[in-house]
Amino acid sequence: MPAALHRPEPVLRHRAQPVDRNVPTAQAAAWLREGRSLIVTDRFPTGLDILAALRVQLDEPAEDAGYVRKRAFREAFQSASKHLLAPIVGRKVALADAPAAGFLAELYPDHADFALPVEDAKVLSSAWEWYEQGVYFPVLGYRVHPFYGTYIPARMEHLELFGTWLAKYQGARDRAIDVGTGSGVLALQMAKAGFRQVLATDINPNAIESVARQLQRLPRAPAIELEHADLLGAFGGPIDLIVSNPPWMKGEVGRTLDLAMYFQDGFFERFFDQARQRLAPGGRVVIVFSNIIELSQPDVPHPIQTELDRGRFTLVEKLTRRVKPLRRRTREKVEVWEMAAV
Ligand SMILES: C[S@@+](CC[C@H](N)C(=O)[O-])C[C@H]1O[C@@H](n2cnc3c(N)ncnc32)[C@H](O)[C@@H]1O
Repeated sequence: MPAALHRPEPVLRHRAQPVDRNVPTAQAAAWLREGRSLIVTDRFPTGLDILAALRVQLDEPAEDAGYVRKRAFREAFQSASKHLLAPIVGRKVALADAPAAGFLAELYPDHADFALPVEDAKVLSSAWEWYEQGVYFPVLGYRVHPFYGTYIPARMEHLELFGTWLAKYQGARDRAIDVGTGSGVLALQMAKAGFRQVLATDINPNAIESVARQLQRLPRAPAIELEHADLLGAFGGPIDLIVSNPPWMKGEVGRTLDLAMYFQDGFFERFFDQARQRLAPGGRVVIVFSNIIELSQPDVPHPIQTELDRGRFTLVEKLTRRVKPLRRRTREKVEVWEMAAV
């Protein structure tokens, strides 16, 4: 395992109080909120029940609650739930009825016995399930197997919209780059569309690991070149097609996966500076985006429109498509912004 991969921090020493199913979950949750460390000693579901009680006590907001409220809940939940530990013995969760978490063996070559927050053990086990089963992408026609800590899209409409745009693309198919490749889907779409050379970057090393493993799984893997890097990395110009599905909202970045959701000041300026320098004559910059920023952060200047107003790029075409609500009705639309240098 390359040392740089992100993983939940192992707890090597602790003086946590043992808890099992005989401790009332509300009591255990209250202790966690006071900052007391607990370690589950019987069954994995005991830990899950305590976390469920904690969610209730912290008044978990509904899915459609505002960004600020959801964020505040998440921070409070993270800071209390990290005190609830699960024992790891021989790189396995040493509790009855614990789900498999094969990533423990891959991510902790340096420790066999330690403890992890139950929440982290749960995330590792569901990530393992996604990795083993894969996620079917209709735009690719096969399953992608995301490595732990790699962003996987919750919906497909934006990828389909990019596919619609790509099918009409008439420009050169020499070199393309996917900036912030995640599980690699846009890069794989471009490779499928016949680009001679496809490059892909991500600032999250787990994403690069994910795509490298995916390429090994494919019977005829496209020659996608990967770089763990900020934005366009060291890939020089000229590039015919610079594509990115960047974070769609502005916000603080805490966990690695927040990098997929939230951008910070300067992100788009730096992206467009680099794109402007490396774009081939007649080339295109394509941003896969959403109107979620206008719906939920109306005070944040629109990052693409702001760039267009600077006059370095012109909008060639903007495709939009409604999305099917995941739970409730939504006004959300996905977008593909095609831009050319002025
Ligand atoms: C919304 S996800 C999109 C992932 C993938 N392209 C897709 O469409 O499913 C954004 C990705 O950008 C990456 N990212 C965020 N900031 C970055 C930066 N400064 N440089 C490179 N990648 C970045 C994140 O790690 C994440 O994988």
